Amino acid sequence: MKTRTLGQGLEVSAIGLGCMGMSFAYGGAPEAESIKTLHHALELGVTFWDTAEVYGPFENEELLGKALKGRRDQVQVATKFGFRISDQGVGRERIAGVDSRPEHIREAVEGSLKRLGIETIDLLYQHRVDPAVPIEDTVGAMAELVNAGKVRFLGLSEASATTLRRAHAVHPITALQSEYSLWYREAEKEVLPTCAEFGIGFVPYSPLGRGFLTGKLKVEELDEKDMRRGLPRFQDEALKQNMRLVDALNQQAEQRGCTAAQLALAWLLAQKPWIAPIPGARKIHHLADNAGAAGIELDSDTQQAISQALPADAIVGERYDEKNQRMTNL
Ligand SMILES: NC(=O)c1ccc[n+]([C@@H]2O[C@H](COP(=O)([O-])OP(=O)(O)OC[C@H]3O[C@@H](n4cnc5c(N)ncnc54)[C@H](OP(=O)(O)O)[C@@H]3O)[C@@H](O)[C@H]2O)c1
Repeated sequence: MKTRTLGQGLEVSAIGLGCMGMSFAYGGAPEAESIKTLHHALELGVTFWDTAEVYGPFENEELLGKALKGRRDQVQVATKFGFRISDQGVGRERIAGVDSRPEHIREAVEGSLKRLGIETIDLLYQHRVDPAVPIEDTVGAMAELVNAGKVRFLGLSEASATTLRRAHAVHPITALQSEYSLWYREAEKEVLPTCAEFGIGFVPYSPLGRGFLTGKLKVEELDEKDMRRGLPRFQDEALKQNMRLVDALNQQAEQRGCTAAQLALAWLLAQKPWIAPIPGARKIHHLADNAGAAGIELDSDTQQAISQALPADAIVGERYDEKNQRMTNL
């Protein structure tokens, strides 16, 4: 597995592993199966693991804690804080707004360290910008955790270019994690140029369009609790139209003797040398397929052909519902 360097020298596997789906949003997976997937990731060199306090809530960090036993040194552990988590309800129902007050950050990080069973988080992200707390206060509290040895590097998620600049002025930001893929290219407008200006790495989440770009996702087979069932882009009419774009990606992949998933990831890797995508995979064969993308290099003609086959403005439907979309680009 090749590696990539994010801001301030954090070295990670070029292809990471998004662990969310193992415990949250997509219906989860049996614990023993997830632990096998996580350990197999290490054999493949997929060592950049992505989790968050809110995935479960809490269960995903606990799962990683189990998988990390005796293997902590092999992994770059990235987690996130930033939501108020209620005792009421289950899963996503427990999210009760954002909360990046310094005292809440300190408390959340103590919880994450305990569940993960580690002494230091490699990369700590704010999950969503909290409009009620100046970013300077948030990053100030995060920087204190770096000084205390509890965190190595800092990141933000779905922050605007302006917020990223303000944050970076308080303490160097190592990575911005936001949605970026062939079916959501908003980051190219302001955020990626800002990352380039300040030497901040970029971690694309949902790099396979929540599975859609693989051409293999069958919405009718998704778990009842799978959040994708409610997303605008996964509704019947949008799906039908978007499927044409996946057909085009599949054709390109066939010509190159790889899978559509690999091509979608290789395209992201080709955009900048400081981009490290974190595809989510519960299944070992998905993980292995994705790891293979690190070995695929695309020349600029191929990149252009792929961009043309999937024009960003041809995608039908919003990526999020209105409530979730309002929490981004702040
Ligand atoms: N910062 C944020 O706000 C935020 C938001 C969303 C996600 N994330 C992070 O980003 C990670 C990845 O995003 P994501 O899981 O939403 O979407 P994704 O990586 O775009 O897609 C994951 C989906 O694709 C399927 N899949 C993966 N590899 C495949 C392959 N090679 N062939 C066929 N199907 C494949 C997975 O199936 P199986 O799971 O069944 O293997 C899963 O259904 C998450 O795990 C999470 O860590 C962060």
